[in-house]
Amino acid sequence: MSASLSRPRVGVWLIGARGSVATTVVTGCAAVAAGLHPPTGMVTETPVFTRSDLPALSDLVFGGHDTLDCPLPKRAETLTAGGVLPPGVATAVTAELTAADREIRPGGPTPGDTRSQAELITAFAADIRDFVHRHDLERAVVVNVASTEPASQGPDAPLPASTLYALAALRAGCPYVNFTPSEGMHHPVAAAEAAGSGLPHAGRDGKTGQTLLRAVLGPMFAQRALRVRAWSGTNLLGGGDGAALADPAAAAAKNAGKERVLADTLGTVPEGEVHIDDVPALGDWKTAWDHIAFDGFLGTRMILQTIWQGCDSALAAPLVLDLARLTARAHETGLSGPLGALGFYFKDPVGEGPSGLSEQYEELIRFGRSLGQGEGEGQGEGEGVGRDAGSVSGPEATGEAR
Ligand SMILES: NC(=O)c1ccc[n+]([C@@H]2O[C@H](COP(=O)([O-])OP(=O)(O)OC[C@H]3O[C@@H](n4cnc5c(N)ncnc54)[C@H](O)[C@@H]3O)[C@@H](O)[C@H]2O)c1
Repeated sequence: MSASLSRPRVGVWLIGARGSVATTVVTGCAAVAAGLHPPTGMVTETPVFTRSDLPALSDLVFGGHDTLDCPLPKRAETLTAGGVLPPGVATAVTAELTAADREIRPGGPTPGDTRSQAELITAFAADIRDFVHRHDLERAVVVNVASTEPASQGPDAPLPASTLYALAALRAGCPYVNFTPSEGMHHPVAAAEAAGSGLPHAGRDGKTGQTLLRAVLGPMFAQRALRVRAWSGTNLLGGGDGAALADPAAAAAKNAGKERVLADTLGTVPEGEVHIDDVPALGDWKTAWDHIAFDGFLGTRMILQTIWQGCDSALAAPLVLDLARLTARAHETGLSGPLGALGFYFKDPVGEGPSGLSEQYEELIRFGRSLGQGEGEGQGEGEGVGRDAGSVSGPEATGEAR
């Protein structure tokens, strides 16, 4: 990765800017840009994206909204104490954390907030426009990494905060990424406005652990013609996400995405449920068990069990950086509408696209190639993926051309 002197800078406006994921994004971006750590987990830093003309990490400028008031350097200190960030990194990038902290504006609605929904949207959009203007940014991508909201309350309920922010992004002329299961741009009001906006958007709910495994294992069972009888899962996690998901309505929003992956890859919904338990002592560390009961030849019964032990924010942050860069570049090339080619990153992807991880990766590679200025000629050579990902056939593979 190298900063290009001639390239204008790109904003990343994080909704939930003081959360674990957001803090890890800002810290990690600064650390990798400074060469303090390799970009492990960042797909956009692999050789296949060299010619995609993505914004350099050192060209990203961070800001955002949050309803909390804990300074980012302090939040990074807590994450370091919890083992999420390696020792010394947050201190080494204090200047970048402080700069991002200065760009965080009060979110909403907070208890007792008397502003109407229209006033909140206007205020959020004004904050984003002001950020773009003051930093002379070429563009800014709005990324939702705020606490998961309860599942949709129906068409007559007030708009959820995630949708107010999605509408603010559109009003500010910004592409939008929803890394959470919250409704955001999926709400019919926002979806209608997005359709006429000429802006690209992507989502929803980052695929970082249990669902990532499901997107690999589901196709395996289907391709081997093995009949899955039941697929059950349990997650133990703490941190802010664990606390938010202790609310059954928020957990329902999360689990819908996990189940969609199975329905799409197996072609049927097997018996079994997903449970999420809040275990505050675990902090950002998650354990996810899957128990898969399946039939082999002549109906012979078998079991596969998997255990995933991951650090949630360390898994999510590189994906958020990938998504911000890819969506910014998609906007620059004139794409609009749902970016289905980014399904690789999501549990419940927008637009059309395959649901197995391998096919989603192929589609992502094609999309990456289509973003480059010299698209097509010899871009597969010596790039290290060891296969020909093909070429993009048209805008429908990615988003709509403006
Ligand atoms: N970490 C992962 O692997 C992963 C994967 C997929 C999705 N996600 C999603 O990412 C989101 C963030 O996760 P986290 O671990 O950083 O959670 P967190 O609790 O640490 O951070 C969430 C932040 O959102 C803020 N917030 C809440 N309501 C807000 C509002 N109305 N406006 C602005 N800010 C608001 C909170 O104050 C908090 O700072 C969650 O929705 C989670 O489900 C995470």
